[in-house]
Amino acid sequence: MAFPTETVYGLGACALDPDAVARVFAAKGRPADNPLIVHVADVAGLERLVARVPPLALDLAARFWPGPLTLVCEAAPSLPRQTTGGLATVAVRVPAHPVALALLRAADVPVAAPSANRSGRPSPTTAAMAHKDLPEVEVVLDGGPCAVGLESTVVDCTSTPVHILRPGAVTAEMLQSAGIPVAGEGSASDYRSPGTRHAHYRPRARVFWVESTENILPALKAAPPQSVGLLTCGNPPAPWRDHPAVARVDAAPNLQAYARSLYRAFADMDAAGCERIIAVLPPAEGLGVALRDRLQRAGEPLVVPEPS
Ligand code: TXA
Ligand code: MG
Repeated sequence: MAFPTETVYGLGACALDPDAVARVFAAKGRPADNPLIVHVADVAGLERLVARVPPLALDLAARFWPGPLTLVCEAAPSLPRQTTGGLATVAVRVPAHPVALALLRAADVPVAAPSANRSGRPSPTTAAMAHKDLPEVEVVLDGGPCAVGLESTVVDCTSTPVHILRPGAVTAEMLQSAGIPVAGEGSASDYRSPGTRHAHYRPRARVFWVESTENILPALKAAPPQSVGLLTCGNPPAPWRDHPAVARVDAAPNLQAYARSLYRAFADMDAAGCERIIAVLPPAEGLGVALRDRLQRAGEPLVVPEPS
């Protein structure tokens, strides 16, 4: 069953049932060494899944749950290997979505749920996107568009300072201002989540990212008509909006809106037949760190040929 969370839609199965978890891996085409996040309704749910709860994890849970933060702790020995990808640790979070919480309370079991997309594809942020990517999944609970739009921050709590394994809407700055020591201030070298080894977040169109808007116009020169989608944040899109190569422009007014609409924009640009998506990276601050991470994993830097 697919269900909404505040980050992205998840594909859920009982985390204690190895066969159910195996079916989730099969539906997604997911590598078996990439463990799932287990969703629980409250901190008591975390305590049942782990060998011990580090005091820092309790601080983080008290401050940020329910919310877009996943805590990696030492796993209870009873957890199936299928759920943890064979690791000694387990990733747990309490989602901040009324439908997800109602489902978790009704199921009364921990629910392992990766994002509800084929492995390597962008995460779905609407029920329709989940259904389109995984049509064989019979039930998709529709909770509307996801408020955050990017997957949760994954934090390894097994050592102090904590490591950010995947950046998300709970930023390094937010952790630090809550008094949590963060290794490397959340820099890219700290991302050690098994999932980050695999290709990710890729729409059908090829994604190219740029640091500044300067290179966009030269890149559009040789592009066929109506073949490019443009993603920008806080930039006036005026110089490109009417360019014949541009099929769609998604100009987000701020970082939150950029995050909320990113995967939806990928899907819309695919549907519009775009061959290429050019995305402007936001500055590496706050939510910008997570946006840069997803865009850079989805694509490649835009290289503009020198004028001859
Ligand atoms: O926002 C989210 O986290 C969404 C919603 C549905 O909750 N879920 C999600 O799941 O993004 P998924 O499977 O697409 O990503 C889980 C990430 C992967 O990068 C995985 O490698 C990492 O969490 N992960 C899971 N267990 C881990 C562990 N024990 N140690 C380190 N990383 C782990
Ligand atoms: Mg995913």
